[in-house]
Amino acid sequence: MQKKYTMTVFGCQMNERDAETIRGFLDELGYEETEDVAEADLIIMNTCAVREKAEAKVLGRIGKLGQLKEKKPHLTIAICGCMVQQEKVANYIRKNFPFVDLIFGTHNIASFPDLLQQALDSEETVVALRAEEGKIVEGLPVRRTDKFKAWVNITYGCNNFCSYCIVPYVRGRERSRLPEEIIREIKTLAENGYLEVTLLGQNVNSYGKDLAKQVDFADLLARVDQETGIKRIRFTTSHPRDFTEKLARTIADGKNICEHIHLPVQAGSNRILKLMNRGYTREHYLQLVEMIRQHEPDCALTTDIIVGFPGETEEDFAATLDLVDQVSYDAAFTFLYSPRSGTPAAEMPDQISDEIKKERFQRLLALQNKHSLRHNKKLVGQKVEVLAEGPSKTDPTVFTGRTRTNKVVNFTGENIEPGKLITVEITEARTWSLLGRS
Ligand code: SAH
Ligand code: SF4
Ligand code: F3S
Repeated sequence: MQKKYTMTVFGCQMNERDAETIRGFLDELGYEETEDVAEADLIIMNTCAVREKAEAKVLGRIGKLGQLKEKKPHLTIAICGCMVQQEKVANYIRKNFPFVDLIFGTHNIASFPDLLQQALDSEETVVALRAEEGKIVEGLPVRRTDKFKAWVNITYGCNNFCSYCIVPYVRGRERSRLPEEIIREIKTLAENGYLEVTLLGQNVNSYGKDLAKQVDFADLLARVDQETGIKRIRFTTSHPRDFTEKLARTIADGKNICEHIHLPVQAGSNRILKLMNRGYTREHYLQLVEMIRQHEPDCALTTDIIVGFPGETEEDFAATLDLVDQVSYDAAFTFLYSPRSGTPAAEMPDQISDEIKKERFQRLLALQNKHSLRHNKKLVGQKVEVLAEGPSKTDPTVFTGRTRTNKVVNFTGENIEPGKLITVEITEARTWSLLGRS
């Protein structure tokens, strides 16, 4: 009988993309995917370490798997991803959850089939944690989650070492894929009916710095736009430190490059930005925003903000609110600062209480919601291009999709099919979505 597996993916698009590689391997090994944990022979959890909450959730879920394994001894349990790339977490899991069969890190994905076989053959927990990132392995199998939009890695790892962030420790140093590999992958996607790609890197703007060939992110974007035939090009994440005018021009001039930039600011106070080791000032950031809008007035801007970084005073926080007001983002992802052991910020004095963090978070959210709604309202009555994805989860009579500016539109109309670019007239604006008809 065909073996079945189920996989849960936490964290960012990097993890989603890694999960697609693991699914590709499992296809080759003859496994079938199931949503139903009860019928699975193999359970995989691809974990995230970016905030403590994410880790606590995973540990809780692993704990519960112990009972399942008692009932079903042949069950194989594998834990991978950023969380277990931290050696002490891997050790903790091995010690406290000895029923786990396989633990493998972010640099071991290419040898997944071997590791799985070892785990099946062994009584003990198999632990595979490469400390070094090694060379990029091309040509791994992949089964993509979606039929019309795809994630494409352009860089792996991160060299920025923002003082709060665990990512550089669990994903290794930054390395860029060769432009030819990226172009070839996207050409193949376009030939297979894909309409949209999202180029992925922790800091896409430093693409190419480690390559022998002189190529930067703007050059790569222009090539993807001109050579691949893909209809929508997205990219994330843009680090403000490395964002150039050449890039803003390329985005504005590009035919298929979407009018949306995710440009995390993290904080609005220069003192906090310095403590965060972000490498730019508030003034530099605001100039960037102005420069981007000069080149592309209708460009949607989104951001990430951390509330309650160690030492953040009411005055620092007011500077964040003020920046959010000045920029007027289309959307912001806001996070409570979470100390990550091993990062410099976790050791900084004046950690902020949960109570203050939550109170500031609420104020920030209320302000951002006003801006989100303001931007959405501007679209009412306009016709926009939407990539139809499928029926809405909450209302199956309505279709859902995204604009080029990455806004969710729920819409009605005749003959709508998933994977079609459809012109939709916006009829109503909500804070986080738009309503419309085609
Ligand atoms: N490379 C991207 C983001 C990676 S993590 C960038 O530089 O923007 C995604 C977001 O999680 C970050 O932008 C940050 O806002 C948030 N984040 C990272 N570490 C965090 C921590 N320790 N506590 C709270 N939020 C954090
Ligand atoms: Fe983390 Fe900073 Fe790298 Fe983003 S740029 S992954 S926030 S260290
Ligand atoms: Fe992503 Fe979480 Fe790892 S945000 S890179 S999955 S720590």
